[in-house]
Amino acid sequence: MGRDSQDVLERIDAEKETYLEELKDFIRIPSISTDPEYKSEVRRAGEFLLGQLRRAGLQGELIETAGNPLVYAEWLGAPGKPTVLFYGHYDVQPPDPLELWRHPPFEPTVEGDKLVARGATDDKGQSYAHVKGVAALLAERGSLPVNVKFLVEGEEESGGESIDRYVKEDGGKRLACDAVIISDSSLFAPGQPALVYGLKGLAYMEMKVTGPERDLHSGTFGGAVANPLNALCQIVAKLRDEKTGKILIPGFYDDVRPLADWERQEFARLPFDEAAYRGELGVSELFGEEGYTTRERAWPRPTCDVNGIFGGYMGKGAKTVLPSWGGAKVSMRLVPDQTPAKIGKLFTDYVQQIAPQGVKVEVSFLHGAPAVVVEAEGPIVEAAMDAMQEVWGARPVRIREGGSIPIVGTFSEVLGTPVLLLGFGLNDDALHSPNEKFNISHFYKGIQSVARLLDRLGEL
Ligand code: BES
Ligand code: MN
Ligand code: MN
Repeated sequence: MGRDSQDVLERIDAEKETYLEELKDFIRIPSISTDPEYKSEVRRAGEFLLGQLRRAGLQGELIETAGNPLVYAEWLGAPGKPTVLFYGHYDVQPPDPLELWRHPPFEPTVEGDKLVARGATDDKGQSYAHVKGVAALLAERGSLPVNVKFLVEGEEESGGESIDRYVKEDGGKRLACDAVIISDSSLFAPGQPALVYGLKGLAYMEMKVTGPERDLHSGTFGGAVANPLNALCQIVAKLRDEKTGKILIPGFYDDVRPLADWERQEFARLPFDEAAYRGELGVSELFGEEGYTTRERAWPRPTCDVNGIFGGYMGKGAKTVLPSWGGAKVSMRLVPDQTPAKIGKLFTDYVQQIAPQGVKVEVSFLHGAPAVVVEAEGPIVEAAMDAMQEVWGARPVRIREGGSIPIVGTFSEVLGTPVLLLGFGLNDDALHSPNEKFNISHFYKGIQSVARLLDRLGEL
């Protein structure tokens, strides 16, 4: 079988505490890309990562963009061998609501096997495993079994526009590779890794409903003037059928690619414990689109959700006021072959059409990304599956996911190579939620997976 990676696995084991301390330093930088106030912190996180890649022996630079910089680094000392492009993101979601955290969100805290902090798993911990896997190989042997490139962005959580432009402009020249490796998802279950071959797209909308020119006394004027927040709720209530869970926007389902029978069968074969699922989420019942299983609703069927509603009096106690405006953020998760622009237009037209009289409604498109289903077959995919199996003890199952990683579609299109989504997280890692965590043992196994994977690819 050639190399068994024993040398590098031993090194990883000997150095793991150092790796964890470095990851903590990375996490301490509050690189929140959705909030412009943190722009310099986002850059600092990019600089930190670049520094670590250089220390490992790669050559790299920050690529400036209209938004946050891209971190690029490469080691191309294995001519004739395959080239792997590692992608990840060094930005994170805001930590709100702060009061629900057990520790300050950017002070990584160890609780047993868990490292608790914003970004612990999404995606600092997972993408730092790529860095350390490569670093351990280089430190141990002075060379790598394959060529590697890193492209890590600082804008994934806010739409990923800059990397999209960069990859399209590059057209697969500097970024030419034989496979893209991404670790920004989860295992299927503890002990059962997954290869994710489908991600949802997104059309993220905001609407603002405006009524009277100022907040009014709700006694004096209530009943005589349309209330923008009432109007907003009427609109929201018409987005989905309350019984069937179907999205009511005309044309919404027109381009949805139907589920293949084999896919439905595969998903049905994967174990699903509904009571445990409900219990973990704290809900008494599940709700979703009629005619589909929970897994189908979450993975290959499109959805529409209100992310937030605001306006009016939100302070303590009772203030009798008829608000002058109200707003909502609504996201639609898309599947092949829906397109964000078309869905955004259908949404806008429908909302305008159902808007109650007496208010003005403005709809804006915040960002979008197409859904992807990648072909995940061939020798590289098999080698990756072998490596995962060796480290995690089970062969990955092929699944889809409800989350989005905007750049994946563009990678697949522009680079024309397999994109492998091999996540090291768990479904209870609380991504985007308070007390996000990454199992420390998963961080180490992620590093081992990378080392093993590169060794296997070097034998192809
Ligand atoms: N890592 C997630 C996406 C993800 C989550 C993939 C779970 C697979 C399983 C990513 O960081 C993310 O949160 N993406 C955003 C994209 C959006 C802000 C454009 C998402 O899905 O909401
Ligand atoms: Mn992520
Ligand atoms: Mn995320």
